Amino acid sequence: MKRYVVFTLCLILLALIAACAVVGLGLFNVSARQGHLPGVYWILHTTYRNSVDLRAPSVDTVPDLTDEGLVQLGAGHYDSACVMCHGVPGQASSATVQHMVPMPPPIQGAVENWNPAELFWIVKNGVKMSGMPAWPTLERSDEVWPVVAFLNRVTEMDAAAYDAMLTQDATQQPGLASLQTYRQRCQVCHGPVGLGVEASYVPRLDLLNEAYIKASLLAYRSGERHSGIMQQVASLLSDEEIDTLAEVVGKISGRTAPAVPPTEGVDRSADLIAAGAKIAAGESEHRDVPACNACHGPYPVERSELFPALAGQHEGYILRQLELFKSDSRGGSERARLMHEVVPHLDKAQMQSLAAYYASLAPALDLP
Ligand code: HEC
Ligand code: HEC
Ligand code: HEC
Repeated sequence: MKRYVVFTLCLILLALIAACAVVGLGLFNVSARQGHLPGVYWILHTTYRNSVDLRAPSVDTVPDLTDEGLVQLGAGHYDSACVMCHGVPGQASSATVQHMVPMPPPIQGAVENWNPAELFWIVKNGVKMSGMPAWPTLERSDEVWPVVAFLNRVTEMDAAAYDAMLTQDATQQPGLASLQTYRQRCQVCHGPVGLGVEASYVPRLDLLNEAYIKASLLAYRSGERHSGIMQQVASLLSDEEIDTLAEVVGKISGRTAPAVPPTEGVDRSADLIAAGAKIAAGESEHRDVPACNACHGPYPVERSELFPALAGQHEGYILRQLELFKSDSRGGSERARLMHEVVPHLDKAQMQSLAAYYASLAPALDLP
């Protein structure tokens, strides 16, 4: 019995020495030139497959992914954050990507064996030790769905269809047309005149002024405002680019554009608008809800440049932002704390009415 114990202890000691030699003396070859040993790839992939299967949400949680705007927003993010590894749909991977281990699969192959709920999990969480990154912020898994909507359609796309999706052909706003950074980095989602492509996610920029746009871009870049989509965009902007974008976008005259029609499927009845107008004017049943108009306008109320205008903003976007404030997931500039004193007292119906009210107003030219 004693001999067995000594023998086992010796074996453990030898194994430990071998492990230390591999780690300490660099015996394990980490070169990407040599793939995994036979069988290791199978073990890793089966573990990966089963791990995703176990953790992915149920397919019942998958929202409607057919909306064109949703697919386009997803394409815009893909082009900014994923294309360098997974390539343009229908095109071969770059020579460098082909030498990664594991090699990021070309996107049409990458989506083949997964359902939308599993794709959601993979894009949200990433894959350890493979290079596949997690979503930039834990607060915003809602934003992963537009990417899944794009992935859901990507097998039907060739390079030309992908390119067409990223290029907007509508007439340019004169101020924006001359700004290459806007055309190349913003237009795919915010549109040629600053009207977002997907109204519940992407805000109109043509209502906002220079100071607020700059504060927002800085808050995204530092991660204080949570959005995996805009954090990615802002992380690639220099201080000078932020200044120029804020200045040019803050000046566009699209503020005179009419109020936008209701987002499909969103109720904007006269009663709802009237209910929202009452709360916005400070006549809420709840004493602790201040007048939104006191900070947000519309004109001619005097307001700080750092309080965003809401008149004419998409109602889907306003509602989403209010819900994000309420669940403490929006983040924002330093002044966002003001909103945290407002939202706890608002319920979903009140938020809907406020969104309908502001969206029904014509954008107000209340800036110098
Ligand atoms: C730095 C490179 C890199 C970037 C950037 C990247 N991925 Fe990946 N991705 C990978 C690698 C590598 C894998 C393979 C993981 C494996 O099989 O072990 C992968 C796997 C996947 C898969 C699952 C495919 C499969 O069968 O394993 C999907 C879907 C995917 N990525 C989508 C995306 C999306 C969408 C983005 C952008 C938000 C993205 N990836 C960004 C490297 C990357
Ligand atoms: C891939 C799509 C995409 C691209 C590209 C993009 N945006 Fe955005 N933008 C969004 C989304 C989605 C939001 C809303 C994010 C949130 O919920 O906080 C947003 C929000 C914003 C906001 C905040 C507006 C508000 O009302 O608070 C500003 C400012 C902005 N974007 C400017 C830009 C600029 C400037 C560029 C180009 C450098 C750009 N965006 C590129 C999708 C995009
Ligand atoms: C004391 C001033 C103040 C009051 C009152 C106020 N807000 Fe705000 N609100 C702000 C500030 C400041 C921000 C911008 C936060 C940031 O910079 O990230 C904001 C942001 C918002 C946004 C996001 C806008 C965007 O473009 O992203 C919405 C929607 C909003 N408020 C709705 C409301 C509603 C509805 C009310 C009334 C129930 C209200 N606010 C009351 C100061 C206020």
